[in-house]
Amino acid sequence: MSGKRKIVITAALPYANGPVHIGHLVEHCMVDFWARFQRMRGHDCYYICADDTHGTPVMVNARKQGVTPEQLVETARVEHVRDLNGFEIVYDNYGSTNSPSNKRISDRIFTALKEKGHIETKTLQQAYCEFDKMFLPDRFVKGTCPRCGAPDQYGDGCENCSAVYATEELKNPRCVLCGNPPVQKASENVFVKLNDFKSFLKEWVPEHTGPEIAKKLNEWLKDDLQSWCISRDKPYFGFEIPGYPDKYFYVWFDAPIGYLASLDDYARARGKTFEDYWNSHEIFHCIGKDIIYHHSLFWPAMLKAAGLNTPTQVMVHGMLQVNGAKMSKSRGTNISAGTYLKHLDPNYLRYYLACKMSSSIDDFDLNFEDFVSRVNSDLIGKITNVASRGAQMLQKLGGKMGELSEEGRTLVTQAQDLSEQIATHYEERDFAKAIIAIRGIADEANKYFDKHEPWKLVKTDAAATIEILTGILNLFRIMTVYLKPVLPGYAAKVERLFQEDPYTWTSAQQILEFHEISPYEHLAKRVEMAQVQSMLEEAKALAAASMEKTAPSGEAALNLAPTIGIEDFQKIDLRVVKIIDAKHVEGAGKLLQLTLDLGGGVTRNVFSGIKSTYKPEELVGKLTVMVANLAPRKMKFGVSEGMVLASGDGDKLALLFPDKNAVPGQRIS
Ligand code: MSP
Ligand code: ZN
Repeated sequence: MSGKRKIVITAALPYANGPVHIGHLVEHCMVDFWARFQRMRGHDCYYICADDTHGTPVMVNARKQGVTPEQLVETARVEHVRDLNGFEIVYDNYGSTNSPSNKRISDRIFTALKEKGHIETKTLQQAYCEFDKMFLPDRFVKGTCPRCGAPDQYGDGCENCSAVYATEELKNPRCVLCGNPPVQKASENVFVKLNDFKSFLKEWVPEHTGPEIAKKLNEWLKDDLQSWCISRDKPYFGFEIPGYPDKYFYVWFDAPIGYLASLDDYARARGKTFEDYWNSHEIFHCIGKDIIYHHSLFWPAMLKAAGLNTPTQVMVHGMLQVNGAKMSKSRGTNISAGTYLKHLDPNYLRYYLACKMSSSIDDFDLNFEDFVSRVNSDLIGKITNVASRGAQMLQKLGGKMGELSEEGRTLVTQAQDLSEQIATHYEERDFAKAIIAIRGIADEANKYFDKHEPWKLVKTDAAATIEILTGILNLFRIMTVYLKPVLPGYAAKVERLFQEDPYTWTSAQQILEFHEISPYEHLAKRVEMAQVQSMLEEAKALAAASMEKTAPSGEAALNLAPTIGIEDFQKIDLRVVKIIDAKHVEGAGKLLQLTLDLGGGVTRNVFSGIKSTYKPEELVGKLTVMVANLAPRKMKFGVSEGMVLASGDGDKLALLFPDKNAVPGQRIS
């Protein structure tokens, strides 16, 4: 092993606007495994994270809850840290992007970009709600997909047909807050000229990302890079941009700076600054593949401009799916960390995730049948049971280990020899391979146990039994050393069992003989499918309750059109008319052709989509209401000279019929 490494590693900053869920846990566990492994190897490794607090959703939700955004994000931070710690994930610092240090460093990086000429301003047209008096991010506009026609789709893409489009392409767009259609409004915005960094990034990317990522990024880097908009207009929860009143840093500008700020908080508590660490440590960012662009293009460019070191490596992982599908609220598979902890032992998930994790960016699946069987047959059946039987048997024989047999010594040496191979798997984040190797040791231990049948042997030969148990317990102890990055709490119990100091990686090279053990304390329990089911039910119920809360009601659900003045209304000339003729239109699936009498001998020809509601003969002679001053429209079957009023959309339209006192030609006001 070469010298002591100095490492800072981060997990992407979870959004404050929601709980930590099992998808986040993939990343936070991954970093936790890796950081614990590095520390066991004797290196300095700091695990730094924070909450990502800024943006429109936090501002809007705080308003709904009647708290300030600062209060909302502080509550979220406390809950996030509690839940993450509940999974034995331990940070050197867990900060917040809404901190004085983040403000200071954001200003500094922006100023550096500006002084070096990398900032420009441009006017943009964006969706704006005149009712809520704010610009609407893509996710705050919903409407009909311009491609497939699915209703109720977000402004940035369609969940039905996966089309990606600009918000202004949505049909019938609505503000999700008030239901009014947004308008396009111009405003000046601040941009980083990303293309200034193109040649730097072309060199940087292949050296600091994996091959799969570099390939993808190279596609982007072939063409010129568009300037990146880093400003948002007031009202916005975030930091005001120095020199640009009422303009705020876009959340993604100050989010990665949160890594530096959280590190700075850590450093200052020790009389240093973030630069003392940042510029002298290896820097690793662990992220999901959905945020590659931000970490491999924007972020190195920002750091470069500020004269700060760029990350050593961006580590990218795939997305966790649940039971073969994307996590979803309606299926109840969007399981929060808190919900999980109420029903299941966190070690199960840590172990299961380790079984599935590799350095690849492929998505991977949490399948609950598989989860239950891995925990019960491997962690409990293979790894834990042999130790628990062995330790309890040894207790009865006096609680002191003996000497290894030749056979036992060979097995122990083989397990010890796996040390560097397993270390390489950890180093390369091939946790699944590390677990396979560890399970291999467990298989050997179980074979050894079954072959010598100590439970029978104990009746005739205590000394021989102790010899077997010494082999078993040494193998178990070595496995535990290798498992410790994944199962630290479990390992702590094993350290107590053997009355030892906390294990480091080299502890595996020791052999215990004539060594006293403590009474066996319970290590892990089987998991029952029923526990999983009750967790899923709770997740589903919580999701349903939250959807109910967010579904619009009252005015918002009505989707009222924007308010108009009486003068607007008076522009519409509504008249009572008599239907004097009604006919089918050949070739038209939905239309009836109506002849309307406006009185005074004036008639109008109007096509109306009411064929599925009315037979022509039942309409003749009836009074109804028409818009009489609507400009004539040329249709496939002729010209429609106005419009009759009907309610409903789709198939069943209902015509309006005035009271019998109405007279054709009368104006409605
Ligand atoms: N706030 C930004 C990150 C800013 S970093 C400067 C963000 N937040 S997030 O809460 O949406 O996601 C945080 C991390 O969790 C991301 O790396 C994301 O890829 C990861 N995951 C979110 N859902 C996930 C899964 N289902 N599976 C694996 N990782 C997942 O993006
Ligand atoms: Zn609105």
